Amino acid sequence: MTTPSPAGTLSFFKDLHPPRSRFREDVLDGLSKPQKSIPPKHFYDARGSALFDDITDTEDYYVTRTELGILDAIADEIAAKAGSGAVVIEPGSGSSVKIDKLLSALDHPAAYIGLDISKDHLITACEDLAARFDGLEVGAVCADFTQPVALDDLPIPDGKRLIFFPGSTIGNFEPGGAKALLETLRGWLRPGDALLIGADRVKSAEILENAYDDTHGVTAAFNLNLLTRINRELDGTIDVGAFEHRAVWNADLSRVEMHLAARRDIEFTVSGQVFRMKEDETIHTENSHKFTIDRFTALAASAGLAVKQNWSDARGYFTLYWLERA
Ligand SMILES: C[S@@+](CC[C@H](N)C(=O)[O-])C[C@H]1O[C@@H](n2cnc3c(N)ncnc32)[C@H](O)[C@@H]1O
Repeated sequence: MTTPSPAGTLSFFKDLHPPRSRFREDVLDGLSKPQKSIPPKHFYDARGSALFDDITDTEDYYVTRTELGILDAIADEIAAKAGSGAVVIEPGSGSSVKIDKLLSALDHPAAYIGLDISKDHLITACEDLAARFDGLEVGAVCADFTQPVALDDLPIPDGKRLIFFPGSTIGNFEPGGAKALLETLRGWLRPGDALLIGADRVKSAEILENAYDDTHGVTAAFNLNLLTRINRELDGTIDVGAFEHRAVWNADLSRVEMHLAARRDIEFTVSGQVFRMKEDETIHTENSHKFTIDRFTALAASAGLAVKQNWSDARGYFTLYWLERA
């Protein structure tokens, strides 16, 4: 990865093959628990990734717009802190929309590496980005960031690393998992490198629940698509129409929970295994934890990361943090 690639092509693509069988294991294990649950990373097949993009365009989902607004406001400060020739690495890069603002703000970034579990979406997004930023080295890594990722084995050029982790994806993890993920990201940092991470703030239940249950039903479609994916990939017989989307603010645990609730008693099979659910019983599909600045700072500290600076929007809806190794 020493010479810029022609516009629209990747300097490298590395598939670390996040195991598909884990989807089967996670679904079968999760549906066997007293409170049925499936990890949110399995939302992101091609349709799930596209639906997530649609969510970010909805009026109710303030998260993306707010974070983009903060990035606009602090572009110069970030550029000064990152310096010239930064190597930007984005875990959970998705459509790489926010990265345009960051890369445009930075002084001659040396390279961009997107890392995501959703392979086809990742490749398309990174190729599009390479076409938009002519001359920038762009690499893509298909990996599960909850598993060890040996970054140093990848052809990543030298230079100050800026790990960009927006979208409050950190909020999808329970406190122990969030700490473990921050420790993983910390492991990618060398002295002088930084992690720029976005985390959503605690706010009214009404605003939060609307954000995860938009009036156009896009989040509902995103949640229900998980059942369609199970039917397609795991030989499932789930009547998707027998389920409805629910988003509930759990104040005690400071998180919005997404569930798929059975509208009636139902029986189905997945990979030949039989499951039964009572009317109103739910499959818990996602948590989106919301943070106060103090609580996020404490979480980061528990993973050996120090908050050097943070920026919020005027309403205090969302905060971006600049973290370095403590
Ligand atoms: C909430 S979206 C955020 C997308 C984008 N970064 C943004 O800020 O809008 C989460 C992204 O992380 C990816 N993702 C979720 N779990 C992952 C995992 N365990 N490993 C790698 N990527 C993951 C998804 O495919 C998706 O693109």
